[in-house]
Amino acid sequence: MKSNQPIGIFDSGIGGLTVAKAVKEVLPDESIIYFGDTAHLPYGDKSTAAIQAYSVRIAEMLLTQKCKVILIACNSASSAAYDLVIEYVGKKAKVFDVINPTIDFIRENHQDDTIGLIGTKQTVSAGVYKKKIQELNQSIKFRSLATPLLVPMIEEGIYDDEISRNVIAKYLGDPILNDIKSLILGCTHYPIIKSQILNHYSSHKSEVEIIDSANTVANALKSFLEFHQLKNREKKSMDKFLVSDFTESFEMTTKTFFGKEVHLERIPIWDELS
Ligand code: DGL
Repeated sequence: MKSNQPIGIFDSGIGGLTVAKAVKEVLPDESIIYFGDTAHLPYGDKSTAAIQAYSVRIAEMLLTQKCKVILIACNSASSAAYDLVIEYVGKKAKVFDVINPTIDFIRENHQDDTIGLIGTKQTVSAGVYKKKIQELNQSIKFRSLATPLLVPMIEEGIYDDEISRNVIAKYLGDPILNDIKSLILGCTHYPIIKSQILNHYSSHKSEVEIIDSANTVANALKSFLEFHQLKNREKKSMDKFLVSDFTESFEMTTKTFFGKEVHLERIPIWDELS
């Protein structure tokens, strides 16, 4: 691994740009190669086997792009395929998912809490967060809820009006999430509605701390690069944003997730398989 190699970040689609944005905020000099598997999204409703096959092929592509790090930005892919991607990549790059840095954050900050998780059906049913939190501390109470309407709602640009407030209130009002002290945003899209989630809790006079997995992984990556002296020392970064299927609407939604619109380039990584 060399310091001037890029950081590969992949997701099922455009939502993982929230993670790329968090990474760029703490590591502005790093070059990013982002890949959104728009041909296969959403991952949240796919089987574990399908997500594993996609993730390994994407890791292979990112290795050919000489990435020093492969960051699985998607919570659904982190739940389904982290171990397999590590096995595949071996020593050729460092692999990050979004779950383990979040567990480390909980280890340091939230040992006695009742912790909630919202995410896709895949992330919740895979139970990886639950298992790792229980391994960490048996006395932490863990509650999780699949919130599948949130991804399409945010992608449609509906995240700060009456409809979105009602959907958010319906999910967060679910009795399973009663009494939580902190809530893990276990999906690439949810940082976009962080303030709406906080507003929901403050209007119900409850204090719930938000644990944003995009921030936890960005900070973990920064510490790793610093510790191993792998931070890019060349002061010019070159970012690339790749997708497996291109539409103008994907390109337009990049602004929601990355803060500014970016140009998407189609890379035909599935063509030989179809
Ligand atoms: N990127 C996915 C995740 O973080 C959400 C979108 C999807 O279901 O593909 O779980």
